[in-house]
Amino acid sequence: MTTIPSPQASLTPTLPGHTYTEPQIFAAEQERIFAQEWMYVARADELATPGRVVRRQVGPDNVIVVRDRSGHLRAFLNVCRHRGARLCLTETADMGNAIRCPYHAWTYGLDGRLITAPNWAAMADIEKDKYGLVPVALTEWAGLVWVNLATEPRPLSEQLGEQLAYRFGGDADRIERWHMPDLVLGARKTYEVAANWKIIQENFQECYHCGTIHPELIDAIPTFASFEDLGNGAYFTDGYNFADGVDAFSITGRQRFPVLPGLLPEDERKYFGMVLRPNCFVSLLPDHVIVHRFEPVSPTQTIVECDWLFDREVAEAADFDPTETVEIFHRINCQDFAAAEWCQPNMNSRAYRAGGVLVPVEAEIIGGWYYRWYRSLMGEV
Ligand code: FES
Ligand SMILES: [Fe+2]
Repeated sequence: MTTIPSPQASLTPTLPGHTYTEPQIFAAEQERIFAQEWMYVARADELATPGRVVRRQVGPDNVIVVRDRSGHLRAFLNVCRHRGARLCLTETADMGNAIRCPYHAWTYGLDGRLITAPNWAAMADIEKDKYGLVPVALTEWAGLVWVNLATEPRPLSEQLGEQLAYRFGGDADRIERWHMPDLVLGARKTYEVAANWKIIQENFQECYHCGTIHPELIDAIPTFASFEDLGNGAYFTDGYNFADGVDAFSITGRQRFPVLPGLLPEDERKYFGMVLRPNCFVSLLPDHVIVHRFEPVSPTQTIVECDWLFDREVAEAADFDPTETVEIFHRINCQDFAAAEWCQPNMNSRAYRAGGVLVPVEAEIIGGWYYRWYRSLMGEV
């Protein structure tokens, strides 16, 4: 019997519209994804000195990351064990030698141990080690700090290994050529996007839109606008080549900075971009690296923090000026986030109840790779 393909055979369904809007879905994502997976929360060099604290919302919980007096990074729930006050009230802080609750001044060491509390003499019977801060699993990879709220998290290498292998055609170690732990922050921009985190990440995983909304990007990397080159949408595991005459990924295309030490000649005129689920996006360029951190705030709001990282010697030079480098991806960010905001208000529309469709160039990465992961954690939604 011959099967006649339906006229829609080349299309794949997206997730249904309600998954981008419903508070119940967002709450389930917080528990099943953001509280179970390793989440990228900060760069290690943001926490350079003992007592330095970065505060983040990680799924349902507020978490502090602190460098302790012996130089180790630690993470704790940002919850005082007395009556539950937040210990750190700002996004970053310098706590000095101890974490002191702003409410009744219970005081914890940078290692989380309860040290003392006002009128301690009246409760000398309590065992201090039962009232330390609640620790959260923490690990570092590529100069990035990741935390995990799960009771027994699997190693981060398991979470990232498969993703990196996919992006590099099996050679996950290729990313080490960029020596990310040695890079330093050259510029940061933070965007408040009125869109669900998945819309933003789906957009970062297809270039069907690049020819329409990213003129600067396709001037630099024409492949992104060529459906002939992009073919069936398979990820380019060997990177995307710069256009002839483009010597750097910057708004002018002019090379201002040397190629990063450690790269091979074959890495020198290419772009690699990869969403590392659940909340990181890494772009590897010959002379810098860009790291996006996604912080889902609500079903319809996401904070995106974008860091441009450079070789330390380059960034510390007196005449260091990253403006041209920052400008190209800043424009791309603004274009992408505007597009995400065009979609978000319609996720509730009766026209989108069953969702939309992915065309062939979007199907492998979003439909196969990304939705398969999402459904493995969330089930059918
Ligand atoms: S709530 Fe922290 S000391 Fe009372
Ligand atoms: Fe884009």
